[in-house]
This record gives sequence, C-alpha cells and structure tokens, in this order.
Amino acid sequence: MTADRPFIPFGKPMIDQAAKQAVLDVLDSGVLVHGGVTPDFEAAFAERVGVKHAVAVSSCTSGLYLAMFCKGIGPGDAVAAPAMTHVATAHAIELLGARPVFVDVEPGTGNMNPDGLAAAVDREPALRAAIPVHYLGLPCDMTRLQAIAEAAGIWLLEDCALAMDARHGERKAGGLGLAGAFSFYPVKHMTSIEGGMATTDDDELAFEMRRRRAFGYNRMLGDRTRPGLYDVDCLGGNFRMSEVEAAVGLAQLARLDAFQADRARNDAILRTALADQPALHVFPNKAGESISSHYCFNIILPKDGSIDRARMQDGLKAHGIGTSIHYPGAVPLFTYYKERYGAQFGDYPVAEWLGDQTISLPIGPHVSEDDAHHIAQSVIAVLQTS
Ligand SMILES: Cc1ncc(COP(=O)(O)O)c(C=O)c1O
Repeated sequence: MTADRPFIPFGKPMIDQAAKQAVLDVLDSGVLVHGGVTPDFEAAFAERVGVKHAVAVSSCTSGLYLAMFCKGIGPGDAVAAPAMTHVATAHAIELLGARPVFVDVEPGTGNMNPDGLAAAVDREPALRAAIPVHYLGLPCDMTRLQAIAEAAGIWLLEDCALAMDARHGERKAGGLGLAGAFSFYPVKHMTSIEGGMATTDDDELAFEMRRRRAFGYNRMLGDRTRPGLYDVDCLGGNFRMSEVEAAVGLAQLARLDAFQADRARNDAILRTALADQPALHVFPNKAGESISSHYCFNIILPKDGSIDRARMQDGLKAHGIGTSIHYPGAVPLFTYYKERYGAQFGDYPVAEWLGDQTISLPIGPHVSEDDAHHIAQSVIAVLQTS
C-alpha cells in the first residue's frame, strides 16, 4: 500500500448487493441443489457464449474431466495439452487414467503450437483428443487446430478458464470445439464462488454430461414419479453446482458487460504505456482471427534472466500492486509429471521461458483507470531500478 492509495490486488471478486440478495433468496427457499436457478444460469450462459448447451459443474477442472469421461477417454488413450497451462488441464487427463501428450506453445501468443499438435498426431496413435488452452484469454488458432484435429479424427476440448467472451472469427470461445470448459473461481472474469460451465453444441454429449454430473441417475429430482425412486444406468460422479453458486453466477452475468469494458480499458492503458519498454515482451490482445478476453496483462522479462522476476514482483508490491504468475512452470516439468514421464529441462523452451519470466498484472474491474496508469508507471519505475 502506498500512502494515498489502497493496495491493488491481482484479482478481486466484485460481489454487489443484488448477488448477496440472490444468495439470501436461495437460502430462504430451502432448495439448495437441484432447483430452478441453475437451469436459468445455464440458459443465460449458453446464450452469452452462443452455444446450444451449457452444463453447470463444480469447477472448470470437473468440466474438462466430465467432457472427456463422457467421450469414454481412459486408460490407453492419450490427450494433447499445451506445456504452458494451469496444471488442471493435464490433471483432468491424468485423473481419467489417460496420458497427457505435451505440446510446446507459440512464442508470439503462449498458445498451443499447431505444428506441435500436428507432430503429436503423427507420433501418437493413441491420441484421441486435444485441449487447446486459450492462454490468458487469447483464443488459440482454432481454425488450424480444428483442421489438424479433423484430419486426424480427434476432437478438441477448449479450456476456456480465462477466455470468457473471447472470440475467434464469428464465434466465441466455448463454441469452437466439440466442448469447452469455463471457470468461475473468484478472480476470473465472473465468479460463482467455486464453479464452472461445460459448453457444447452436441446434444448427445450435453445429455451425457447432465446425467453423469449427478451419479448417472436415470431420473433427476423433478422427473421422479415417486420421491427417492430412480435407477442408475451409467457411471457418474457428483460434479454439480449448488443453487447458491448459480445465483451468484447469474448476478455476475448481469454485470459482465461492464466488467469486460473495464478490462479492455485497463488493457489498453497498460499496452500503450508499456509499448516502448525494450526490456519487456508483451503478447498481443489480437492475433489473426482471435480477440482476447483481457484476463490479465502479462509482461515477460528477458530470457537471459537479466531482470530478476522476484525483485520485480517485490518492487511492484512496494508500489501497492499485487501480481500473479501464469503459470509457474512448464507442466511436464512439475515434479509429478517429470517423475512420471521423464521430461528434461530444455524440452519445452517457450513454456519454460514463460514459466520463468512472465508476470501477470491486474486489469480486472477492481482496477480503476487511475489505478491502471499507476500500475504502468510503477512498472517503468521498478524496471529502472532493476
Ligand atoms: C487454464 C486453466 N484451466 C483450468 C483451471 C482450473 O479452474 P478451476 O479452479 O475452476 O477448476 C485454471 C485455473 O485458474 C486455469 O487457469
């Protein structure tokens, strides 16, 4: 915190009175799960993304898991994932007993390299799917990835954790592959506390995800002829969203246009102010047909380590600015994956560079226009002393 300005955290959930009242209404209703708020949230979300189906789940991770589970992915199968992502992407594959095949990312965007996917397709006969992750909200080159996937007979599952409202061509993220999975973790574009949403245009997949997110019951609560009576005709788990979470999500959706406008404004301020800093590498917010969701503003320090990232983060903290790192290492080099699959340092040079040198700056709706200028000026000031 500086003398005249409160600390600016990396992210901050924006919960207003309407969201609080919606939570109280749910609590007063006594219907905490299996009620009518979740279907309303799903319908509004599907409309926003422009897809036929949105299936509310407990997190993005469970959405990724559930979509692959419903497609029958399991032991003996392989699924491609970028080497630079949240570990959730790889863990969802691993939890199914399938094997992640890591693909390095592009130096210009941090997104899955289509040439890398093409190479993985050629050398991995067990490959059944790929999970492009829209890194920090800029959609992958889905046109090329889709062409590769179609030729190989594999399907694409988008990891949209940071890609709310991001676009590729005419469509939004979440409607660009067979399915997508969003995260409503508290500091995302919108929150439902914990929570996520799986999206798809595929009727059969949506049907499977709905019944398998709730134990594989053949009848949901409202469809039962006699209370408590159901059969179970398939394997499922409990990946449901509660009514309280859905109520928060719906209230957030109503404010999303304003949130997104603030993010775009803050991104533009930082982009302009930091454009001529030779020490900083900055990814674009548009590439080809893709337009970013402006999740955060990442600055990437030189590969040679000439600027110490920890010192830079400490310097920004002293200026009252919270930062984050997306993500703190190439996933195949995290201890679990390294021990399991034997990757070596140097195997994923772009992902490793990002893992070592990127810093994420806040641009969410809690950051005012004045704050955004302060963040930019602070970055320049800290750089000068680094
Ligand atoms: C790219 C990506 N995928 C998945 C996740 C996991 O999301 P959740 O916490 O909703 O499971 C995250 C979390 O930040 C993420 O950044």
